[in-house]
Amino acid sequence: MSNDLLRSTHNRHSHALSIFALAVVFSGALFAQDSTKANSSTEVSFSKDVAPVLDKFCTTCHSSEEDHPSELFMDSYELLMKGGKHGKAIVPGNSKESLFSQKMSDDPPFGKMMPPPRKPRPTPEQVALILAWIDQGAKKN
Ligand code: HEC
Repeated sequence: MSNDLLRSTHNRHSHALSIFALAVVFSGALFAQDSTKANSSTEVSFSKDVAPVLDKFCTTCHSSEEDHPSELFMDSYELLMKGGKHGKAIVPGNSKESLFSQKMSDDPPFGKMMPPPRKPRPTPEQVALILAWIDQGAKKN
């Protein structure tokens, strides 16, 4: 489709049109990027933003099917909120007090930093998004 559009830019009118189309696509991309930033005005969604990151970087080990020794399972919102061996991992509204984020820092209160060394890690933006979700009340949204 876009190839046809480019090939048909012989007259000024369609040329202007394709520039306009490009501008729309470009500003759309900028807008999409902006809306993923975690700030107080954007509500972070558990199902859309948080769960996919957990699935990719944490649930590989922290799954109830694996019967993980930490007893912290992340395959559902309910299991995650239930906590693990050391009690609740998430304190709604307070990411600093949450074991979940303390274990992701380079100075965990016990054991290893999460995910463990040499395992794939979420990007700083993905971590910031999860912390924002906790600070916004860790809702099942
Ligand atoms: C390669 C396997 C593995 C992955 C991936 C992993 N963990 Fe862990 N996790 C462990 C092990 C093993 C323990 C228990 C030992 C320890 O605390 O260091 C643990 C313990 C924990 C605990 C403490 C739970 C408790 O109550 O004792 C938290 C919180 C935690 N992990 C969070 C995470 C988060 C968040 C991620 C993803 C960003 C993650 N882990 C990814 C293996 C993993």
